[in-house]
Amino acid sequence: MSRPLRLACIGGGPAGLYFALLMKRADPRHEVRVLERNRPDDTFGFGVVFSDATMAGVAEADAEAYQAISDHLVHWDDIEIHCPSASGAGEVITSTGHGFSGMSRHTLLRVLQDQARQAGVHLEFEREVRHFSECADADLVVGADGVNSPVRALLARSARTEIDVRPNRFVWLGTTKPFPAFTFYFRANEHGLWRVHAYQYAPDRSTFIVECRDETWRAAGLDRASEEESSRFLEALFAAELAGHRLVTNRSVWRQFPTVRVTPWSHGNVVLLGDAAHTAHFSVGSGTRMAMEDAAALRDAVVAATDTDEDIPTAMSRALAQYEAVRRPQVESLQRAAQASLEWFEATERYTHAAPLPFAFSLLTRSLRITHEDLRRRDPVFLSRVDDWVAERAQIQVGAPAPAIGRPAPPPMFTPFRLRDLVIPNRVVVSPMCQYTADDGLVGDWHVVHLGSRAIGGAGLVMAEMTDVSRDARISVGCAGLYSPAHASAWKRIVDFVHRETPACIGIQLGHAGRKAATKKLWEGDNEPMDSGAWAILSASPLPYFPGRSQTPIEMTRAHMDEARDAYVNATRLAVEAGFDLIEIHMAHGYLLASFISPLTNRRTDEYGGPLENRMRFPLEIFDACRAAWPAERPMSARVSAVDWMPGGMEPEGAVEVARMLKAHGCDIVDVSAGQTVPDQRPLYGRLFQTPFADRIRHEVGLATMAVGNISSYMDVNTIIAAGRADLCLLARAHLFDPYWTRHAAYMLGYALPWPDPYRSVERYAPRFEFHFGG
Ligand SMILES: Cc1cc2nc3c(=O)[nH]c(=O)nc-3n(C[C@H](O)[C@H](O)[C@H](O)COP(=O)(O)OP(=O)(O)OC[C@H]3O[C@@H](n4cnc5c(N)ncnc54)[C@H](O)[C@@H]3O)c2cc1C
Ligand SMILES: Cc1cc2nc3c(=O)[nH]c(=O)nc-3n(C[C@H](O)[C@H](O)[C@H](O)COP(=O)(O)O)c2cc1C
Repeated sequence: MSRPLRLACIGGGPAGLYFALLMKRADPRHEVRVLERNRPDDTFGFGVVFSDATMAGVAEADAEAYQAISDHLVHWDDIEIHCPSASGAGEVITSTGHGFSGMSRHTLLRVLQDQARQAGVHLEFEREVRHFSECADADLVVGADGVNSPVRALLARSARTEIDVRPNRFVWLGTTKPFPAFTFYFRANEHGLWRVHAYQYAPDRSTFIVECRDETWRAAGLDRASEEESSRFLEALFAAELAGHRLVTNRSVWRQFPTVRVTPWSHGNVVLLGDAAHTAHFSVGSGTRMAMEDAAALRDAVVAATDTDEDIPTAMSRALAQYEAVRRPQVESLQRAAQASLEWFEATERYTHAAPLPFAFSLLTRSLRITHEDLRRRDPVFLSRVDDWVAERAQIQVGAPAPAIGRPAPPPMFTPFRLRDLVIPNRVVVSPMCQYTADDGLVGDWHVVHLGSRAIGGAGLVMAEMTDVSRDARISVGCAGLYSPAHASAWKRIVDFVHRETPACIGIQLGHAGRKAATKKLWEGDNEPMDSGAWAILSASPLPYFPGRSQTPIEMTRAHMDEARDAYVNATRLAVEAGFDLIEIHMAHGYLLASFISPLTNRRTDEYGGPLENRMRFPLEIFDACRAAWPAERPMSARVSAVDWMPGGMEPEGAVEVARMLKAHGCDIVDVSAGQTVPDQRPLYGRLFQTPFADRIRHEVGLATMAVGNISSYMDVNTIIAAGRADLCLLARAHLFDPYWTRHAAYMLGYALPWPDPYRSVERYAPRFEFHFGG
């Protein structure tokens, strides 16, 4: 049986007002107060933007409030992207079907205030709360007091707050110019690149947010400019875009965006809501939306918890736990998307050389949430332009004779890609995966079936597992090797099968386990030292992997390096004999060459330690020696760990330099992985979590990349390829689960991947060939 509650909301922004209103509507017996330090009409900023999906949620939470809000919404479907002039002389790309609404923040607050007042909420303005004692009689105290939340500060001892202040500068302005679409401008001047996020929120009013890098802001002298001077400067800079309209200020100071993360969100009977608990960058337009979704979730949790016989403090504590359990995963997911989005805007300079269509596609998919498939649903015309563009580029890149591309073009993942003389038929790669089933390095039937079935499964390139260049270079006794003619013959059987029976290419990853050698098979203990029979191991420095548990490696001498280099060259020659199409040098995951690259594992004081050029000396020597032994027409790759996920280790900017050096040494493509250097790494896992590193290297170095790590859907592969974040996508575990992953993707996309002859009867059930590549 629900009971009346006394509720105090500190802060009368969207979070506090909406929660107060929803609670009063849930039960008019509740005594609900909103304490707001400002006057009812004070508000910073201009418009807020909601997606159609958000408004559907508002409608579900409370129909009356929805109706009152929706009367004031300005709706639009289009996103208009004015590309930077370097990428196509300011070409404008428009994409439709996005479904957003804008509204004045001032009006939203007025509507919520009116609704709350009518429902019986007690609104107290010009009431600044300084301590909880002012709400001592409340059953629940709601800290809805914004990004600089004093309530959060009062909870400092029980809640951990992390505030990540981003480097870019931005200012929130208004203009009288109406924008028919959500509009992005990119304009370069002598100071740098300026980004504008603009949208209409009333018939004659739009929000106009200008964002730039810190150095651009300083170079333009805006660090010393007043609000008025800034506004006049931007008015002149965007004179063409504003077409005679003025910019309007309202406490329009330059700021840096703070991403706020708090754990937990409540203590006792005090709970944080909206910006007080979390923020998400304005480029995903979601601060007000999150505040209102929080309010609805907290209302649901409180209503459910008070519908029992529990005493009020117990019921409140259950409600707050429930609120956080429901909302935290949603909020964190949105914060991850916002992080990817803000990083795109921090690095926009990187993409300005791209052609307008991929620039626009990259912008639209920047949060990694919107996929190629979403855009197909929202705007099939735009998507087919993108697909045509990708297919045309692929055709030029592979150098195929160029009759007009058939229409519709294939999905991006089914376009070919060329590396030297090798043409890989599509962009899906089976990532190298150790099988631990070899006998003294000799691969057998398991490998024929494992790699053969994945080649039949449709991937364009199948990468054989880390294959060690000597017996002592093996991770475990079950690891594959390439150190004797017998090994080459065993591999040749697999390579010949793949070449004879499938259109797939096949590559091999050459490795030396370094300090991670002489360990157990994966399923017996990941990186755990062998119980018996271990051999002496080598590394850049004498540092054991698990201190106190793993064997201490011998610090490599020059003689050891010569021996290892000769083993790599021998393995390369054997790979030629076996007929592989590509070799990849494993420089990642803490193995021998990676142990030289990472400062965490390389403490040398000779010419192989210290600065990155020195730490790269031995890995590059190996690369050069293999390159010299590998046929000039066949490509070579290197796998790197772009970040060690550990302070003091490799960071993405270092990986860019590594890639630059590899490119200068004739590397054709970098396989961009991460981590596994040290056991106490702290990775930030998530969907596509390593793809941004591949994107960065591809654009900053101008070298082809492979992306890997939690790529599991064809939507993601198409998105990565079309946005130019990588040239090939590697999938490891998804291929363990489904060797026919690529065939299933083709089926879902209605793309007819040709079947091997013995399986052709299946074509009767598969969709007809609908896409065309080449003549
Ligand atoms: C440049 C920029 C653009 C944005 N664009 C959008 C957008 O397009 N769409 C969108 O949804 N969101 C946008 N936001 C975010 C949005 O403004 C906030 O996320 C949203 O207002 C959060 O609501 P809130 O109620 O949690 O906090 P606020 O709206 O900040 O409300 C907090 C309230 O608490 C009051 N208060 C603070 N301390 C006390 C105290 N001690 N006692 C009493 N009262 C107190 C404050 O006066 C304030 O009224 C943008 C933000 C920025 C910076
Ligand atoms: C069983 C298994 C074995 C692996 N062996 C290797 C390997 O031999 N060489 C390598 O570079 N990475 C290896 N990896 C890492 C994968 O290639 C890939 O980078 C990682 O699993 C992330 O991709 P995913 O999220 O698609 O699984 C292995 C992964 C698995 C699951």
